[in-house]
Amino acid sequence: MLILGVESSCDETAAAVVRDGREILSSVIASQIEMHEPFGGVVPELASREHLKNLMPVISDALSTASVALPDLDLIAVTSAPGLIGALLVGVSAAKAIAYSLGIPFIGVHHGEGHILAAHLEYPDIGYPYVALLASGGHTALYHVREFGKYSLLGQTRDDAAGEAFDKVAKLLDLPYPGGPVIDRLAQQGDPRAIAFPRGQREGYDFSFSGLKTAVRNHVALFRSKDKGLDPSLNINDVAASFQAAVVETLADKTVKAAKEQGVSKVIVAGGVAANSMLRQEMHRSCEKAGITLYLPGMGLCIDNAAMIALTGYLHYQRGERSSLDLNPAASAAL
Ligand code: KG4
Ligand code: ZN
Repeated sequence: MLILGVESSCDETAAAVVRDGREILSSVIASQIEMHEPFGGVVPELASREHLKNLMPVISDALSTASVALPDLDLIAVTSAPGLIGALLVGVSAAKAIAYSLGIPFIGVHHGEGHILAAHLEYPDIGYPYVALLASGGHTALYHVREFGKYSLLGQTRDDAAGEAFDKVAKLLDLPYPGGPVIDRLAQQGDPRAIAFPRGQREGYDFSFSGLKTAVRNHVALFRSKDKGLDPSLNINDVAASFQAAVVETLADKTVKAAKEQGVSKVIVAGGVAANSMLRQEMHRSCEKAGITLYLPGMGLCIDNAAMIALTGYLHYQRGERSSLDLNPAASAAL
């Protein structure tokens, strides 16, 4: 079966062709980062217009890279929730139109479920159960995944998502958007123990990053003056490293704790923040120590992509599910 996946929920326009929910024949991702960068974040209206411009070329690219023609397709899977509503509408409308014109089924997919299941494309033999940490710009949550389709939410952020915290802290330091990759890079030159930022929300599986963000803001404020901006005596690398250490420690500790307490021996990490080099190292270290097997997909499957959407759509289709052409995208939706 040939599945076309389409993803347009935020600032990446992506299309992928996946065979039998297993083999990625192509995965094309057009990022809008440069366009949103001057605004310090994603501008929803601009994102929708850019998806409109890029989606068909991205789909054509995915098809030709896979050496697949439109009539060869058997199923279209598209992110239908959650995300920016205007951005979602572009992908969902295109998916409906293609499916209708080809007379094939289409299926709306939850973006977060796509992120979790992405690991199965790289590790087809993972099996269940496992604990999944989903850490992206829009979500930070821990799930106990018993089998495909059975996701028990163990905990989630009470305020900012982890990626959002990276982006906001970067802004405080006058660094470009998105902040995650920049902070990751600067932190490599800094001392993670230089500033004792708070860890926040120690009990249970919920996360909170707003206190940490405020602590960074207060620290940076000591070095900022109205007329001269940031004082060069502020060691930005140390701030980046100390902030990152606080986020990574919290994410890794809670994930390993959840796996141990749930009696689960496998952990997967998903979402854009899973690209963070310190988080990757720390997850490897703490999982090994706890005797837990870690599944950490490569960067291309951590960030927003359409291969994960194709796989997720395929698995739902296999269970006999289809979406109707009346399907409306939703800005928010529980998994
Ligand atoms: O999953 P994703 O591509 O989009 C959403 O669904 O949100 O995640 C994007 C988020 C952004 O907040 C970005 O700053 C963060 O992931 N991110 C990182 C890194 N690369 C991307 N955060 C920390 N370290 C990174 N290397
Ligand atoms: Zn995402």
